[in-house]
Amino acid sequence: MKNALIFGASSGIGKELAKLLVADGYSVVITGRRVQLLQEIHKTNPDKYLVKVHDVTDLESTSLLFDELSCELKQLDLIVYSSGVGFINDTLNWEQEHVTIQTNVVAATKVYSLAFHFFEKQGYGHLVGISSVASLRGNKAAPAYFASKAFQANYLESLWMKGKSSKASITITDIRPGFIDTAMALGITFWKAPLVKSTKQIYRAIKRKKRRVYITKRWNLIGFVLKIIPSSILYRFT
Ligand SMILES: NC(=O)c1ccc[n+]([C@@H]2O[C@H](COP(=O)([O-])OP(=O)(O)OC[C@H]3O[C@@H](n4cnc5c(N)ncnc54)[C@H](OP(=O)(O)O)[C@@H]3O)[C@@H](O)[C@H]2O)c1
Repeated sequence: MKNALIFGASSGIGKELAKLLVADGYSVVITGRRVQLLQEIHKTNPDKYLVKVHDVTDLESTSLLFDELSCELKQLDLIVYSSGVGFINDTLNWEQEHVTIQTNVVAATKVYSLAFHFFEKQGYGHLVGISSVASLRGNKAAPAYFASKAFQANYLESLWMKGKSSKASITITDIRPGFIDTAMALGITFWKAPLVKSTKQIYRAIKRKKRRVYITKRWNLIGFVLKIIPSSILYRFT
């Protein structure tokens, strides 16, 4: 039986992905700060979900969580970092910029690196990060969010490279959603995809061990445009 660990499973993509994994036979450790939401998920299938209430910005507790799970579980096949925050922040409010960096950069790096070490020791494993199409360029409405997603995407690419030269069999997947219908979809949105459809595409990409994938597929087009459009034009649209 396979085990998965999802950071940010109390809502949105993480929660939906946990459901798909359980339906596919996984046991899933679900984490997040909102204990009540996690307990509600647990109630739907108590044998298959294990709840760990956890704030990713508490870096020490992230190390402890990995220690705990390496004792409690025989193996950990899949780790998904779906925790994230984002704000439209035209005024560059420091609290919002700071919590975005703490959650999407510092805490993500802690989880990514602990996961990589865990898999090296175990000999195999699959790490999935959820960056964004936002990783490709800057944005004047949400500077910290877009920059944090660029960090995640580049860090995941670096880990993919490290995985290639590791003795262990380590798979790294960077999921790059456009707009998905969750609390996270920021500001003026378009092509907002239903959560269930999007998460099915995410799970398919995980099963195929994709290195990087845009969700939904049509966001490949936006990805292409973002890579070539000059900043002098892009700033008018962001
Ligand atoms: N929806 C979109 O349009 C979209 C597009 C591109 C990328 N993404 C990315 O997809 C990921 C998942 O977001 P979502 O759309 O599913 O939104 P969501 O429903 O708001 O989920 C965010 C998750 O992050 C968790 N989280 C936030 N701060 C945390 C903290 N300090 N400690 C632990 N967990 C924390 C939340 O759990 P608690 O509040 O319970 O802690 C929640 O489970 C994010 O990284 C987001 O940037 C989403």
